[in-house]
Amino acid sequence: MSGRFETRAFDAGGRIGELTVPRAGVTVETPALLPVVNPHIQTIDPAELYTTFDSELLITNSYILHQSDDLREQVQSEGVHALLDYPGAIMTDSGSFQLAEYGEIDVTTEEILRFQHEIGSDIGTPVDIPTPPDVGRERASAELQTTQERIDLATRVKEELHEEMLVTAPIQGSTHLDLRTEAARHADTSGLDVFPIGAVVPLLNAYRYADVADIVAATKRGLGTDAPVHLFGAGHPMMFALAVALGCDLFDSAAYAIYARDDRYLTVRGTEHLSELSYFPCSCPVCTDHTPEEIETMGADDRERLLARHNLHVTFTELRRVKEAIRSGNLLELVDMRARGHPKLLDGYRTLLDHTELLEQSDPVSKDAVFHVSAECARRPEVYRHHERLERISVEGEVLLSEGSPNEAYTETWRVVPPFGPFPRALSDTYPLTVEVPERLDRSSYESAAAGVCTVAAANPQTSFTLAHYDWPDSALERLPERVTVRQLG
Ligand code: GUN
Ligand code: ZN
Repeated sequence: MSGRFETRAFDAGGRIGELTVPRAGVTVETPALLPVVNPHIQTIDPAELYTTFDSELLITNSYILHQSDDLREQVQSEGVHALLDYPGAIMTDSGSFQLAEYGEIDVTTEEILRFQHEIGSDIGTPVDIPTPPDVGRERASAELQTTQERIDLATRVKEELHEEMLVTAPIQGSTHLDLRTEAARHADTSGLDVFPIGAVVPLLNAYRYADVADIVAATKRGLGTDAPVHLFGAGHPMMFALAVALGCDLFDSAAYAIYARDDRYLTVRGTEHLSELSYFPCSCPVCTDHTPEEIETMGADDRERLLARHNLHVTFTELRRVKEAIRSGNLLELVDMRARGHPKLLDGYRTLLDHTELLEQSDPVSKDAVFHVSAECARRPEVYRHHERLERISVEGEVLLSEGSPNEAYTETWRVVPPFGPFPRALSDTYPLTVEVPERLDRSSYESAAAGVCTVAAANPQTSFTLAHYDWPDSALERLPERVTVRQLG
């Protein structure tokens, strides 16, 4: 790797990192969003992206430049930074998206990588094959083979160029999760620099966030933790928290511009149509200076420019919020909140929690107290880790596991706090057992606490256990083995 990616702070699978882009001479903090700039239609000046939005990275399409009679020679002579009037780092895509849309393109991986290098791209991309979701395994596997050959070729071209241009190794495999993991392992050993997860746009457009979550998790399983991961074509702020919690570091967004063209207004809870808004739920400069009605009655160009600006503001604001949540250790609370914006996003969140053991690997061992704010919290990595720990604790004699006070008649009294379950009293003040729970708990938290009781009982088959509880639901009590004596308190 000629670029360096260093991770700084973690929360669940999310991290704050620094990606060094040597050709541009910049180090970019991640998670980062790369606005998509179309060389022909610039809804917002790239210079403004840099100055107003502090965006140090953008992505443009080298294939469009390569095929353009107007721009090709210009970009070859003056370079892509001058052409776009942008001083930050520029990543270039290869035409793979056009390949997916139109079935063929007029350029090879070798040609487009050399062209990207020639025009001064800071991060280049080979021609991967974006296999759509739900195709048969044979097709997905055959196309992945081609993508892998092109990644190998890209590695050779990069070496020949002796240049500092970073090169991406896109990860394909359609909805076949084992192929995604295999693709990720291959990409990880390629020596290339950035790892985009490809062909998820059709899934994002259909709100199939559960599938996206499975695909990202499958990919992460094949990559080292120091690999920067880009979620290709993901730019809606409603899903950033989820994608970051899964371990994505880079996003690119054409959504801000495409949606603006159709009078659509992005929010962290979804997309609204301008005509349906009476008030702007945002305090960006556009929304403070105008009412929805004012913008609606403007000419199409002004309307599009203003909406695109709002869309970018809300997008970058959410990214900062996500980064702050990582620093504060409450990213999963933010994911939880965002998941309430759409049922399909809730599916994505629940799928994320299916991979809680993966998140646990990078989740810090200590943070501020967990806020238990929904039934989903029972499946957080902290709970998983606590149950793992219970498997290794040995305890002897007659043990009372109690939601109430200690009882001298027993060898030991442990505390019990749903959703974690039992733990020795000495751990009371240690994270995550400092959890703040509501008084009216959900059933799954009791069930999870009962699972903790089962774990400690199974780990200590010679020990006798009594559980003293306040009104646990039957669904939790039914889980307990016969050898645990149950007493109702209160
Ligand atoms: N943009 C959105 N999806 C993709 C993809 O799968 N590959 C490439 N190269 N670009 C994309
Ligand atoms: Zn706004």
